[in-house]
Amino acid sequence: MVREPRPLAGFQADPDFFRLEERSAFDPGLVVDVLRGKRLGVIFRGVIPAAAQKESVARFWASPARRHREGEPSHYLGSYHWNKSTETYLAETAQVVAEVREVLEVPNSPWQSFRSGLAAELARQDAVIRIAEHEGAQACPALIRAWDKEGAFALEPHEDAAQCTDPRQAGFEVQGVLDHEVCAVNMCVEHEEGGRLVIWNIRPDDASRRRLGIEHTGFSYPADVLVDFDELRIDIQRGDVYVFNGSYVHAVDTSTGNRSNLSFLMGFIDEHTVVTWT
Ligand SMILES: [Fe+2]
Repeated sequence: MVREPRPLAGFQADPDFFRLEERSAFDPGLVVDVLRGKRLGVIFRGVIPAAAQKESVARFWASPARRHREGEPSHYLGSYHWNKSTETYLAETAQVVAEVREVLEVPNSPWQSFRSGLAAELARQDAVIRIAEHEGAQACPALIRAWDKEGAFALEPHEDAAQCTDPRQAGFEVQGVLDHEVCAVNMCVEHEEGGRLVIWNIRPDDASRRRLGIEHTGFSYPADVLVDFDELRIDIQRGDVYVFNGSYVHAVDTSTGNRSNLSFLMGFIDEHTVVTWT
């Protein structure tokens, strides 16, 4: 009898690795640990000043460049490289970057605080952090999203590594991150109820992605292929900043009301360079 391959296979971490470190103050050394694959993730509780949260939320909802995804209860401002060519991503970025910066550059900006703190720590390790580039054009500095979707998941299970293999983005420097770790950075500025971060202990392999027809998107993994894997469900509150290894399948579970986040992806592309993109 020929056995069907398991629908989802890949790397599973040791149980003691599979946890998020939790702190009440920002510590960029822990973020570098995530970048170097030494820990799964870290969450800094309540580190975004209340006034900065409020101003970020106000500017996001007021932005003329805020978009609503058709057929999906999600609002967003910014561009994303997922499932398109480098040229399209950078052209879309150029159209919205001024409006994105308007939201990021609030007094006591969490985006700025995170990056300058991380840059100082990386400098001690002879490395820099910068926005990814391609032929003189820059990636988007952040994507601001609000979910208010009911159902099992506000954001379906997915991972952030597959999208970095898209042949339409060959030569884009973000693909260098595949030799290192792809890390997701999220800053929660608005939250009502629910919307936990879910992470499953599986880094899917290419064969699994192909079987599921999501080789270059990593979106989405059906819930029934994930039931055999350990999972973390982390409550997220306004003011939290969290960073985790995006190669593990993750999601946002049922959310009531608006859950708004500033986010970007980042990773080392060589020993001395961390780039960020969306
Ligand atoms: Fe993600």
